[in-house]
Amino acid sequence: MFSLIIIVLACFNNVQGYFTRPGKCPIVEVQENFRLADFYNKWYQVYHFSSDGQSLNNCSTIELMTRPSGIYLNQSRIDLGLFHRYSVGKIEIPIKEEDAAKMDLIFAFKNAPRRLKTRRYPFRVLATNYNYYATVYTCQYSPLIDKHYIYVWILSRHQILNDVSKELAVKSLHQLGLTGDMLVKDSRSCNAKYYDDFVTEPMTFRFPVPI
Ligand SMILES: *[C@@H]1O[C@H](CO)[C@@H](O)[C@H](O)[C@H]1NC(C)=O
Ligand SMILES: *[C@@H]1O[C@H](CO)[C@@H](O)[C@H](O)[C@H]1NC(C)=O
Repeated sequence: MFSLIIIVLACFNNVQGYFTRPGKCPIVEVQENFRLADFYNKWYQVYHFSSDGQSLNNCSTIELMTRPSGIYLNQSRIDLGLFHRYSVGKIEIPIKEEDAAKMDLIFAFKNAPRRLKTRRYPFRVLATNYNYYATVYTCQYSPLIDKHYIYVWILSRHQILNDVSKELAVKSLHQLGLTGDMLVKDSRSCNAKYYDDFVTEPMTFRFPVPI
């Protein structure tokens, strides 16, 4: 309990800078008839949008993995230009077929205090044609200050996304009030100095508990 209070207090200073968009997480239109089976194999993150303006890594890739206990997502990247790291979260598949693109991502931390052991974040596929582009969105809401944070991945099957695909990927972001020029292009000069070959915390989500 005590450690939780410390964490919450430590976070509080940053809350104002992290949650900047007013109100609750928007209800988004997602990809219709989403087929998870076609989402396998490597995706390169070519652009992103982080509503707090932070860019913490480059060279991020995303790949689904099947394990006996379910379907997982491996998110690898180079943090701070130095560390090649990856995080693995379990995909929670929606029960209703029409909600197939409204997945959640669950990260488990065995050694964390009880309330911090599992963390769940939305992982919503807004648009994809499976062969070229995918637009994925997540959101975190703070009841305390009634604001939210969003992060958007523009994923590509190749290291470069062609203009037509980019346009299609960005179209699905208009519902969030985002346009192509608001996206940050990710660098693909990927020379990490250090390799961590164990699972680490995801950097995309910075608040472990609802605040
Ligand atoms: C996750 O992906 C990275 C980069 O492709 C790879 O180095 C790492 O071994 C993968 N982790 C797992 C558990 O498959
Ligand atoms: C991303 O890559 C660029 C160009 O290599 C580098 O200048 C920048 O510091 C990197 N950013 C991070 C957060 O690693």
